[in-house]
Amino acid sequence: MPIKPWLAERMPVAELEAAIEHKTVPQHRHSVWYYLGGMTLFFFGVQVVTGILLLLYYRPSAAEAYDSVQFIMTRVPFGWLIRSLHSWSANLLVAAAFIHLFSVLFLKAYRKPREITWISGVLLLFLMLAFGFTGYLLPWNELAFFATRVGTDIAGAVPFIGEATVRFLRGGPEVTGATLTRFYGVHVAVLPAIATVLLGLHLLLVQYHGMSVPPSVEADARRTGRRVPMMPFVPHFALRDLFGWTVALAMLAGLSAFLPWELGVRADPFAPAPAGIQPEWYFLWTFQALKLMPAYVLGINGELIAIAVMTAGALALMVLPFLDRNTPRSQRLVTWASVAALVFMVAMTLVALLGGH
Ligand code: HEM
Repeated sequence: MPIKPWLAERMPVAELEAAIEHKTVPQHRHSVWYYLGGMTLFFFGVQVVTGILLLLYYRPSAAEAYDSVQFIMTRVPFGWLIRSLHSWSANLLVAAAFIHLFSVLFLKAYRKPREITWISGVLLLFLMLAFGFTGYLLPWNELAFFATRVGTDIAGAVPFIGEATVRFLRGGPEVTGATLTRFYGVHVAVLPAIATVLLGLHLLLVQYHGMSVPPSVEADARRTGRRVPMMPFVPHFALRDLFGWTVALAMLAGLSAFLPWELGVRADPFAPAPAGIQPEWYFLWTFQALKLMPAYVLGINGELIAIAVMTAGALALMVLPFLDRNTPRSQRLVTWASVAALVFMVAMTLVALLGGH
């Protein structure tokens, strides 16, 4: 029996076909940025597949975690490759998500009616950072152990709820095996569940609204009276996406083969913290900004001020579509604020990398 008529009686096959046929991508000088969301999605897919494979051998306890990762790296066939792919892809995923965010920001793609697409995107980025933070501890090595201690300590500066938050994050007053088990549960169950829902919403909305045309391109089109040319998504843009994914896969394979992810030294909670403890590169700017704050500003704890400013920044980022009034002045303001934030983040990261204190 032919499968298509059978399916069509049971599923909206015609509607799906029509949706695919109608999806088009605007072609203009900024079209290259439309690849970034798909690239982020590709790395997310790599994380799901390699993460499930790692789960087959990883053991989430302080006594066994390090040995199980060592076993994966040395004894499990291609285990070293799967772990390296997972670690490299996590880093490239965060990089791609940041570039995707800034490109969407500069092209003003968050404007009406894409506010919810934007908000789901900001939440996805925070989620990816949480994946990175919780995953970092799982091999239970020295670097991760102390970086987690420093990272979770930051919450302690918040008045009233600080101490309770640190206890909640760590599963006790200190980073112990309880923290590891907790981070593991969050990393492999809680975050993936939330990410699936948010990603589903994000992609559904992208499909529903179609790709946005940046205001400058729209203005050009109005002035010249020419319509913005459109490219069919299937097969033209999808094949280009596929080409990008192939390049990304080659890059991942090259990085994993030539620079396999290191395991480092087993964590020893009783050892003194080694020098040069640093979080992953994408948290470096926050870490450096906190470090550069004076102990007190006008009698207020400096760390607390930095946390308050960053929290306000994160909230402003989330509600940005509602802050931008969509006038040329307000759009210029958003552009300059975004440039300032980007310069600040890059500068702080460089200072941290070059060993500034
Ligand atoms: C796991 C993370 C993410 C994935 C997998 C993802 C995926 C995608 C995909 C596949 C697209 C369509 C192609 C494109 O425009 O690039 C898209 C569009 C979009 N994304 Fe994301 N995204 C993620 C995170 C984000 C973040 C962090 C933001 C910003 C806050 C964001 C905001 C948007 C917006 C506003 C659009 C519509 C763009 C337009 O219509 O021109 N996304 N996303």
